[in-house]
Amino acid sequence: MTPTRFAGDPEKSVAVVEIQRCDPGSGGESRVDTYHVPYDPGITVLDVLKRIYLTQDASLAFRHACDCSYCGVCGVKVNGRSVLAYKTLMTQHMRIEPLHQDKVVRDLVVQQD
Ligand code: FES
Repeated sequence: MTPTRFAGDPEKSVAVVEIQRCDPGSGGESRVDTYHVPYDPGITVLDVLKRIYLTQDASLAFRHACDCSYCGVCGVKVNGRSVLAYKTLMTQHMRIEPLHQDKVVRDLVVQQD
């Protein structure tokens, strides 16, 4: 099977990124939005979230601060595994969810204790 290529750069494969979205403050139901980005195994999940925010959807909410394992605010679940987004490499198919479903402020942002 021929891998799918990214329309903007035919040399790049496409990664499928599913992100759980939710805004409990406005009473909205949780949903999953799907984004297609160039697959680059050398970049992190945080890089992917920034890329989606800057090029496709500025309404996406996520957080990061120290980018050095100090604060933990970039924590998310990727394909069911709890990770720090700033140091986890992307994969070709990712489902990204908030770290704690019961503490969602918006999208991937959760209340910090
Ligand atoms: S931003 Fe501080 S650990 Fe991720």
